[in-house]
Amino acid sequence: MSTPRATIIIPTYNEAENIGPLLDRIVEVMEKEGIESFEVIVVDDDSPDGTCMVARRRSERDPRIRCILRKGEKGLSSAVVTGFMNARAPIAVVMDADFQHPPEVIPRLIRAVEEGADVAVATRYARGGGTEGWSPIRLLMSRAATLAVKVLVREARVTSDPLSGFFAVRLKSIRLDDLKPKGFKILLEILARNPCLKVKDVPYTFRERRHGESKLGFKVITDFLRQSWEISPMPRFLLVGASGVVVNLLVMWLTLRLTSYVDVASLAGIEASILSNYTLHETFTFRHFFRRDCKERGALRRLLYYHRASLASIITTYLSMRILVTITSINPLIAQFVGILLGFGVNYVLSVETVWECGRHGGCSGRVQEARRGD
Ligand code: GDD
Ligand code: MN
Repeated sequence: MSTPRATIIIPTYNEAENIGPLLDRIVEVMEKEGIESFEVIVVDDDSPDGTCMVARRRSERDPRIRCILRKGEKGLSSAVVTGFMNARAPIAVVMDADFQHPPEVIPRLIRAVEEGADVAVATRYARGGGTEGWSPIRLLMSRAATLAVKVLVREARVTSDPLSGFFAVRLKSIRLDDLKPKGFKILLEILARNPCLKVKDVPYTFRERRHGESKLGFKVITDFLRQSWEISPMPRFLLVGASGVVVNLLVMWLTLRLTSYVDVASLAGIEASILSNYTLHETFTFRHFFRRDCKERGALRRLLYYHRASLASIITTYLSMRILVTITSINPLIAQFVGILLGFGVNYVLSVETVWECGRHGGCSGRVQEARRGD
């Protein structure tokens, strides 16, 4: 059998009503677009409604269609990875079974990869894209989640829709063994683990589910939190920041037992927290996110730059408090709290951009390999 141009991967759970018409439509679209050599892999987790049986009835007529039946294993992302591992084509397209991802977009995704992209993302949020029948609340929540992801994960900023479940990848550009398919958002996982991919957005309109209902409930949120722990330094950064507050107060208290100079004690507390934060960021926070370009700079210089980030953060906190208190009648403690949040943001961004994850645009050398193997 010759190598197909693309493999379409459809993870399914209880999609018996959708899968038949979807497969028919895919075949129709692909043939109309002149892409006759393709394969479809349905990856079903033993759906009680017999989704896989429906797909297999189609494969009897059309050998380009297959269904992989997984027993004892569940999960959207791991189903997609199973599809990747069984794909015969150099390009894999991932899509849902419920018609929310219109098959008409598939040829555009395939062509985008054939024309040079490593990943083509079908996006709701670029000009020309959209969502059908969404309430303003749902739209707002999806937008907020997308924004949060972009703040958390730098690599997610290469597309307008990093949470899309509809995309195409050039399989040789991504490392499958690096993917942790526990996470729910497989595209995000791919982008985060492969930092130098060439990504292209393909706008489309997200439609309403045809039959059945969404399988992704509350677990989406817990899975997402777990996944962000893996792919973003932010949660660890917050934790270390909190520990720094404790160190700060502790050292100040100890110093005050030796001297009565409050300023000296305060500065000692601040410096101690900077040093302990720095050490923890080096060994814990950025362990998996450390970029070679930053590493080559040497520890002393990173320590210096981290001081700069911390100083900027302190100044931001103070100035925000001052400005808020001056122009509003807000309680100074609340103003200080707002200042701390802003100061934290400044510290985070500077730590990422100038101390530990620098050099994305220059070398794009990716995360340090040894660090990654350490999981
Ligand atoms: N094999 C397998 N195993 N498939 C699953 C599982 C599972 O445990 N859970 C869900 N699926 C299949 C569904 O049958 C469907 O084909 C597809 O994965 C997406 O599931 P939905 O339940 O339709 O998800 P959704 O519509 O809420 O979310 C979709 O849109 C989001 C964008 O808003 C997904 O594509 C998300 O990945 C995407 O982020
Ligand atoms: Mn859906």
